[in-house]
Amino acid sequence: MRAQRPKEVYVFPTDAFASSVLEGLGSEPKRLESRYFYDDRGDALFREITGLPEYYLTACEREILSCQPEAMLADYEAGTPLDVVELGAGDGTKSRHLLEAAMRKGFDLRYVPIDISAAALDHLSDHMRARLPGLEVAPSRGDYLTSLHELHEKSSRPELLLFLGSNIGNYPDDEALALLASLAREMADEDMMLVGFDLRKDPWTIHRAYNDSAGLTREFNLNLLERINRELGGDFDLDAFDHYEPYDPVAGVASSFLVSLAQQTVAIDSLDREFEFEPFELIHTEISRKYSPGEIDHLAGQSGLSIVRTLHDRREYFADVLMRKQLPNP
Ligand code: AVJ
Repeated sequence: MRAQRPKEVYVFPTDAFASSVLEGLGSEPKRLESRYFYDDRGDALFREITGLPEYYLTACEREILSCQPEAMLADYEAGTPLDVVELGAGDGTKSRHLLEAAMRKGFDLRYVPIDISAAALDHLSDHMRARLPGLEVAPSRGDYLTSLHELHEKSSRPELLLFLGSNIGNYPDDEALALLASLAREMADEDMMLVGFDLRKDPWTIHRAYNDSAGLTREFNLNLLERINRELGGDFDLDAFDHYEPYDPVAGVASSFLVSLAQQTVAIDSLDREFEFEPFELIHTEISRKYSPGEIDHLAGQSGLSIVRTLHDRREYFADVLMRKQLPNP
């Protein structure tokens, strides 16, 4: 029997992960935030997912960036300073093609990856410095808007922002709009932003991307519970939860759930709390939004951005959309 602290000694956890878990598992329906997938184990699992045959997103975007990198640089004057600022570090294998092209064209180039994970930034910086000797890499740890704002207080070099990989798809529509609008406000008139959108397509193709036969997406989802066990002293029984990720083709949203397979009580030591689960009770963990071209136009327009050009892979599964700030009519 674990020692129970008196109920009135309730201390709200100061750690961001702990407070997010407390809030999410205390909600009805239960939820956990997808940003916490990416600890070391989650980063590694996601890297493996990007190599799966079913997970077409990464291959499609790599095809776009490796086959037509000049299209993103055409509006910048070669030989001038350029900061390529990547929001969410990823593993860098896609942005490398763009940086290579920019180096070839003789830009006075600097690469500024922004991420909340120090480990992901280290990994990425090492990768880029090894592959592109001579490239100036200036990683910045923090959330997108804060880091970007700090950068702009120190530097006024022209920028190309990269928000790749369909990371925008993890945000509900209102939050995606608010984020793009905030980014637009941070941008100078000449700056551009390249946003990666996964497009609506055959629902089975999308379904398979999130229900791979190797079971990696399932492990990725369950790792969130393992992370709670590891970092917060949870006692989740991983065999008592399942991965379920249906795609709703009407809404254009794949939703990721963990399903409690039994009536159970889970204790989390560092929260000093127990959580009850009914049989088949769900924990919502992620959304992955798929867009139509019209939905992308609408989102950009409402965020104060205008589309400069849209680039596709051969199958038109994915779109990288180059945007700039809407300018007031003269
Ligand atoms: C990295 C957010 C784009 O939503 O497709 C992969 C994460 N989740 N498999 C996505 C993810 C399940 C991925 N993003």
